[in-house]
Amino acid sequence: MELKDKSVVVGVCGGIAAYKVVEVVSRLKKLGADVDIIMTANAQKFVAPLTFRSLSHRPVITDMFDEPEYWDIKHISLAKKADLFIIAPATANMIGKLASGIADDMLSTTVTATKAPVMIVPAMNHDMYSNAVVQQNIERLKGLGYIFMEPDTGVMAEGTSGKGRLPEPASIVDMAVGLLKPACDLKGLRLLVTAGPTRENIDPVRYISNYSSGKMGYAVAQAAAERGADVVLVSGPVSIGAPRGVKLISVNTANEMRDAVLKEFPDCDAVVMAAAVADYKAAEGSQLKIKKSDDDMVIRLEKNPDILKELGNIKGSRILAGFCAETDHLVENAMKKVEAKNLDMIVANDVTMEGAGFGTDTNIIKIIKRDGSVTDLPLMSKLAAAHKVLDQLRLISKNEIF
Ligand code: C5P
Repeated sequence: MELKDKSVVVGVCGGIAAYKVVEVVSRLKKLGADVDIIMTANAQKFVAPLTFRSLSHRPVITDMFDEPEYWDIKHISLAKKADLFIIAPATANMIGKLASGIADDMLSTTVTATKAPVMIVPAMNHDMYSNAVVQQNIERLKGLGYIFMEPDTGVMAEGTSGKGRLPEPASIVDMAVGLLKPACDLKGLRLLVTAGPTRENIDPVRYISNYSSGKMGYAVAQAAAERGADVVLVSGPVSIGAPRGVKLISVNTANEMRDAVLKEFPDCDAVVMAAAVADYKAAEGSQLKIKKSDDDMVIRLEKNPDILKELGNIKGSRILAGFCAETDHLVENAMKKVEAKNLDMIVANDVTMEGAGFGTDTNIIKIIKRDGSVTDLPLMSKLAAAHKVLDQLRLISKNEIF
């Protein structure tokens, strides 16, 4: 009865995958959770409320204006009672409503009123899922702390294939259990994470930067916070929001990142440097916009500080982890960086491989430790990869520093 004393509200929207959520509810009940169900009007066209009522042993909430059995403002009481909300299948419509603050039915109203973590499991046709508005809504909600589970890829109800299938009920319940009962194996760890690119100004309107999205570093920060660590995230300019419970320090240039990192460093036990720090900046940055002329232009670049290398010189008993993007001789090049920067481990991406590196939600990494051991991991989500990095960090610490 792993979820005894836990209250889960499951919001079911109108998608064919609603039938799979019947098994999600059944599994949650078997784990001892207290489950309430809210169904949208369209959800009731796919599955009868009676099915959910029989499994949850509770009246299913289907209408804002149902006559209550006893006096209770339902959307507020459920919003308060929930330890976790799961919305599955989450339709493009519900995601859009939540992203824009529309609360016009029982589910959107209750979710808007809750302070509990909300886990959203989208399922829809793959063209709908990849629609730019839907993706922007998802990013907006992620930035506001909503937790998303990636849909599976495979054959859809209409016979075509793509990304948009509801994940298997067992995986949904696993993730819910993780959110309700986080491992907390990093409690006491003070972790500093850097993420994103840096921006080096050439003049007030132009800069040098790189394609880093910040997703990998943000995933490390999120995973560590979920496991109980105190996390400070020093981030270059990115378009994603800070994970729940993480202290965010936003910077622009490599020098600003260096200053922020050096300020936080004395109070931390470990550093994961996932930022793609620009190696060079314009030597003579102009205060005024540089005028166009008929000639070619030469901009002299000057070396930026290597932040991680500096940390390597003053690391003491702290654990230092770097990231590197390589195109060849991955392990060999990564190992050289471990030596040169006095690191405990480095996470190497082969950026030539599909699904790895900048911008994607997935990564293919190798974790190389100072002792020469190499953990070679397959394609996985950046969040799953982040957990693997933290697992290794924990092994290195042997729990001596936190
Ligand atoms: O040497 P390379 O740039 O490949 O090393 C990558 C690692 O060093 C990353 O962890 C990155 O965050 C860090 N780095 C840094 N300062 C720089 C360049 C890279 O801290 N100027």
